[in-house]
Amino acid sequence: MRKKILAANWKMNLLRDEAIELQQQISLFAQNQNVQIYAPSLYLSELSNEGNVAVGAQNFYFEKFGAYTGEISLNQLKSCGVNHVLIGHSERRQLFFETEELLKKKVDAAISNGFNIIFCCGEPLEVREKNEHFEFVLNQLKASLLHVSDDCWNQVAIAYEPIWAIGTGRTASTEQADEMHLYIRKSIEKEIGLEVSKSLPILYGGSCNETNANELFSCDNVDGGLIGGASLKCESFKEIFNALYELY
Ligand code: PGA
Repeated sequence: MRKKILAANWKMNLLRDEAIELQQQISLFAQNQNVQIYAPSLYLSELSNEGNVAVGAQNFYFEKFGAYTGEISLNQLKSCGVNHVLIGHSERRQLFFETEELLKKKVDAAISNGFNIIFCCGEPLEVREKNEHFEFVLNQLKASLLHVSDDCWNQVAIAYEPIWAIGTGRTASTEQADEMHLYIRKSIEKEIGLEVSKSLPILYGGSCNETNANELFSCDNVDGGLIGGASLKCESFKEIFNALYELY
């Protein structure tokens, strides 16, 4: 049985009190399950000491310390009780120009510091329209993730997030999600090995919400979700949680 993960990506939303309240509400139903909240960094120190859900950082810099104004290191995150990070989100790639080379350095730094990572990949619409999405995603993985050594894959989850589905209300169909997840799993089997491919959690992200979660999570190769918009409301997130853990 593969590990299931439900991750909330709050992005640059929620004021401090709202974040604390939402985390408390989520803690009430998320007990003993693998729920992670990727909160704004400013609140991580406070949130990591509360509740029973893991909190993670949406961003960090790979250097240990020094003259990097505005950045946060992994050691600083660790000192605040954080050991989960997101890497490669399309918003970081597109809006903040994070290159594949930088993402590779972030992967290495996070893994060697013992962090759990969710590595995001996914194609833009024009790539899917040209039917080049499989190759595109594989290249993203090859460029920044697949060099991770065999014994560290237990720290890794992958999130497939087609860019055309993020925040657009247009979600991937179950067929589209399942075939890409299967493709990623087969690629991992080929490049890394059967054991890793069998145990690696592959999450879906992109307009996953309380109405489509059930269907998406019913796919054999979808092991959870990375949820943006629908994670900002407790009721929606709880329904998505129930869908993943089959609590009806
Ligand atoms: P969305 O965002 O659920 O709002 O589409 C998902 C994500 O960006 O991780």
